[in-house]
Amino acid sequence: MARSFATQFLIFSILSSFALILVQGEEDEEFARTMNRDRLGLKQEKLSHFRLYWHDILSGKNPSAVQVVKPPINSTTLFGFVYMIDNPLTEKPELSSKLLGRAQGFYASASQEEFDLLVCMNFHFVQGKYNGSTITVLGRNPIFDKVREMPVIGGSGLFRFARGYVEARTHTFTPSTKNAIVEYNVYVLHY
Ligand SMILES: *[C@@H]1O[C@H](CO)[C@@H](O)[C@H](O)[C@H]1NC(C)=O
Ligand SMILES: *[C@@H]1O[C@H](CO)[C@@H](O)[C@H](O)[C@H]1NC(C)=O
Repeated sequence: MARSFATQFLIFSILSSFALILVQGEEDEEFARTMNRDRLGLKQEKLSHFRLYWHDILSGKNPSAVQVVKPPINSTTLFGFVYMIDNPLTEKPELSSKLLGRAQGFYASASQEEFDLLVCMNFHFVQGKYNGSTITVLGRNPIFDKVREMPVIGGSGLFRFARGYVEARTHTFTPSTKNAIVEYNVYVLHY
């Protein structure tokens, strides 16, 4: 005897809900996919160069660099110190020149033999189309070398997918205050 319509419907419902569970199970695992770069508006990668002056101000009432960890041991390289920075980035060596952004992050004495810093900072731009965009610099800075190269490891805004490097050259160092003005040339690939 043929199954009643009700029984057939019940079997169909049970089977289709299993199928639904299987399909959903597969979809849940699809957290990764290959994307077409056009969907993010990524066209031709370009190379940009920026020259900025980085002001490390330790003296006065409003220092831009403050020590947050003192050297924990006696060493000639002050191994272990950490300074937090919010350093102005200007167009010219003069602090009064146009503010292009700020370098926010920290540097730490990371060598027991030479005076090498570990530098970790974001350049936050505030001018024109770059306003709000950042690039991230992470590298080793042997501060007494004439030219110190550090990698640009990424960025945000106009600098999404950024990669490149910076060259840092000390422009002025004032021994009495320990304030420094450093010229940064940034070479960055981005879209
Ligand atoms: C560091 O060395 C100086 C001179 O050798 C000494 O006077 C001082 O007590 C030492 N400080 C510490 C924290 O060991
Ligand atoms: C940069 O962006 C901030 C926040 O959106 C805004 O307040 C500021 O006026 C902008 N500066 C320039 C120079 O466009």
